[in-house]
Amino acid sequence: MKKDLEDHAARFDEKASEYDESKSDEYRACANLVIEHAAPESTDVVLDLGTGTGAIALPLSEDAERVVGRDISEGMMDEAERKADDEGLATVEFDYGTFREPEYDGQVDVVTSNFAMHHLSDDEKREAIETIADLEPRRFVLGDVMFFGEPNPDEPFYDPTVDDPATVGTLADAFTDAGFSLTAVERVHDQVGVLVAERTPTAAEATDASAETDPSTGEEDG
Ligand SMILES: C[S@@+](CC[C@H](N)C(=O)[O-])C[C@H]1O[C@@H](n2cnc3c(N)ncnc32)[C@H](O)[C@@H]1O
Repeated sequence: MKKDLEDHAARFDEKASEYDESKSDEYRACANLVIEHAAPESTDVVLDLGTGTGAIALPLSEDAERVVGRDISEGMMDEAERKADDEGLATVEFDYGTFREPEYDGQVDVVTSNFAMHHLSDDEKREAIETIADLEPRRFVLGDVMFFGEPNPDEPFYDPTVDDPATVGTLADAFTDAGFSLTAVERVHDQVGVLVAERTPTAAEATDASAETDPSTGEEDG
């Protein structure tokens, strides 16, 4: 991380009230793809990391049972809470939490994150992906600044003084090492993309699932 958590939080606190007004077409395309790929069921709990002003958390709360948003900037989350109140969305909650310490240990079915993980170094991203895998979601949808080729330093998608985007290959390795399979890669721009990672059930989970199925009928017991 090129700045510490407090610096990043202060930076976003400062820009929170204007954050929603300064969005590129690529950011919007990326956010829309994250929402589309997250596709939560009505019984799902979604954890949105680096939730900001709720661009992902608020729309998903209309489909999921509950959405838990985590961020380090109180200013950004105040905006998210204000919008949730205005829109009458009661199944979304926001609180402090980081990628590597989300401060949440309840049910998680889908994890989302949009335009936030690039603040972490590659080693920190790997740690974050391992932490998220330990929460045992079935899907993790990551939209972010990421490099599909050699980054053009003149492009506007990141600021080298505060951002630290990874290559798609680095992220793919971190996902697969943490037990995810990549099921979709969406390239929005040379430096912006969405990765969809699905968790491969552990051997123990697969055994549990087959034990719940009656082998004579293939139907679930009970
Ligand atoms: C560019 S905004 C994106 C917000 C939102 N996801 C969106 O799509 O509009 C990045 C957010 O990540 C948060 N953030 C930065 N580093 C973080 C970390 N280590 N853990 C959690 N949130 C972090 C910032 O406070 C900020 O709200």
